[in-house]
Amino acid sequence: MTLTNRAVIVIIGGGIAAYKSLDLIRRLKKRGAGVRVILTEAATAFVTPLSVSALSGNRALLRLLDAESEPDSGHIRLAYSSDLIVVAPATADLMARMATGRADDLATAVLLAATCPILIAPAMNPAMWQHPATQRNFWRLMDDGVEAVGPNSGAMAEPEQGVGRMAEPPEIVAAAENLLKSRSALLAGKKVLVTAGPTYEAIDPVRFLGNRSSGKQGYAIARAAAAAGADVTLVSGPTALADPRDVRVDRVESAREMLAAVLAALPVDIAVFCAAVADWRVDVESDHKIKKTGESPPVFTLVENPDILSTVAHLEENRPKIVVGFAAETDYVLKHAREKLLKKGCDFILANDVSPERGIMGGDNNSIHVVTAEGVTDWPLMAKDDVARHLVAYLAEYRVKD
Ligand code: C5P
Repeated sequence: MTLTNRAVIVIIGGGIAAYKSLDLIRRLKKRGAGVRVILTEAATAFVTPLSVSALSGNRALLRLLDAESEPDSGHIRLAYSSDLIVVAPATADLMARMATGRADDLATAVLLAATCPILIAPAMNPAMWQHPATQRNFWRLMDDGVEAVGPNSGAMAEPEQGVGRMAEPPEIVAAAENLLKSRSALLAGKKVLVTAGPTYEAIDPVRFLGNRSSGKQGYAIARAAAAAGADVTLVSGPTALADPRDVRVDRVESAREMLAAVLAALPVDIAVFCAAVADWRVDVESDHKIKKTGESPPVFTLVENPDILSTVAHLEENRPKIVVGFAAETDYVLKHAREKLLKKGCDFILANDVSPERGIMGGDNNSIHVVTAEGVTDWPLMAKDDVARHLVAYLAEYRVKD
């Protein structure tokens, strides 16, 4: 089940074993994975883009500077949106280019930009495999966190015996599953709290003050944290979204209810405040529907809502080890995010530009700047699900300062 709904990139290098990669694609698909295939130039001498496209159900990817996808950093997006990359066959040349960090074709550019696990299935002539240069490259890749399956010993294309034969497709699939299993528990044993959605501040029994937050980003974070093995509580304002699987969901309406639910969920290890909490509410909520009188319209006095993020970040007791804020801004994004980081006392802020022309509010993509006391890191435009997976990986690596 590990491969079900996982986004897998298969990179086919130029070796005679490439024909077996067609069977590998078929087996990965059969296990429920979504498969995109990149062919190196040399690989096209062994298998055709047409057979790869037919088997994977997706257009075979060949070029780095593809006019269709590259204007919005197609290769970076491809790298960021995958759960696993399998390089099969990993030829001596491809391994050498990976080990030295080359990015001169689509395969190596994606490999260099990828943050997901990478599995290689080396395949080459035994003399090439045993050459000190190949061994050096192989062990450098292992040091970089790449995993390998094979090579096996046995009959080769040349009239030779020895080590260099690519692992069989079922072995590669099993190794891929194991790798995903071992890397998918990034937040195992951690308790994570996420707030999401808008809050509604009642004016009377039928009217409220609210905002356009869809809750999609917060729900994606809750889902990704649960998939990474965390025990997740999602405190959600009113949204049209279904409860994510394996997540405890506490639905609330107002900012004050959200604060109460958040405090009740503590202690946690990590708290991510993604909700677009209404800044104000009317000072007195009417207990009956306010009627039009034909005279002067009602005038409301607004009072400020509690700041949930700031309250939790400043707790003396039960402060989560990592407190993350979001900053949705329409101008001076980074300046405002830095100010918020200080004022609200959180560990880092994910800032994004939500000016209407960017289509982020309610949309499926997000463009994030991670603002910490040390500086700013920009993430490219990616799907909200990818932002969530990225955040999970970032949290798993995040060093808590004493
Ligand atoms: O609304 P603002 O831009 O200040 O939100 C920044 C961060 O603070 C977000 O993470 C948001 O979830 C959080 N926040 C909160 N309670 C509020 C206002 C904002 O938790 N009342």
